[in-house]
Amino acid sequence: MSALLSARGLTRRFGGIAAVDGVDLDLAPGLITALIGPNGAGKTTLFNLITGHLAPDAGTVTLADVAIGRRTPHAIARLGIARSFQDLRLFARMSVRDNVLCATEPASWFWQPGGGTSRESRAARAEHALAATGLTDLSRADAADLAYAERKFLSLARIIATGARIWLLDEPASGLDPASRARFSALLREKLGEGVTICLIEHNLDIVIELADRIVFLDQGRKLAEGDPETILNDPALAAIYFGERA
Ligand SMILES: Nc1ncnc2c1ncn2[C@@H]1O[C@H](COP(=O)(O)OP(=O)(O)O)[C@@H](O)[C@H]1O
Ligand SMILES: [Mg+2]
Repeated sequence: MSALLSARGLTRRFGGIAAVDGVDLDLAPGLITALIGPNGAGKTTLFNLITGHLAPDAGTVTLADVAIGRRTPHAIARLGIARSFQDLRLFARMSVRDNVLCATEPASWFWQPGGGTSRESRAARAEHALAATGLTDLSRADAADLAYAERKFLSLARIIATGARIWLLDEPASGLDPASRARFSALLREKLGEGVTICLIEHNLDIVIELADRIVFLDQGRKLAEGDPETILNDPALAAIYFGERA
């Protein structure tokens, strides 16, 4: 099966550190690929290189075999690639509903073509995203007044509202309580069923086991391994690196 999104040889240095060092990544359509690895492995930087938030020192990114490198985050988002941020980046003093509506605003960098720009179409997508994430009853609250798990779901609602077909999610489930985690997993599975392709940065290996079709393991900017979850998670050498017991 050919990949929907492919990175080849992506590299980005910060001073003397190669944060991402010659990484290849393939996202197969309709699957969840989990990107795992210790803190500082280069996971977020890899997302930033794909989404145009950082320019690579080397390497290429293709979407359905078309090169998409060297574009602004705006332009890349418009190709159908939406992302979330580890620090969420919600508009704290705007309502939950307005946070979601922003993602349907043609001037915002979240916006995706195809969803329609009429007030009615935008409102309908926002209501759908709020309902999917269980936030309908909180839609008038300020984002800043939400509980932690609700803020994580709001970040996801924003992505759902865009209608993007590729989602890059940076630790979307970190710190969620078990009930919220189950709701999160169910929601991602539902969206996969609707044809979305997902790359998930996730520390919680229970979630990885539950959701991932494939795992890509990064350490110190390099891809150490990739494969099916069972193989990767049962590899004692990788476990030692993951849990910080490096020799
Ligand atoms: N903007 C930046 N400036 C300097 N160093 C950075 C920057 N972003 C990331 N790094 C460094 O690159 C490495 C990888 O970071 P990051 O991609 O955030 O890792 P991860 O998301 O896997 O925890 C780390 O050593 C980090 O300190
Ligand atoms: Mg990170």
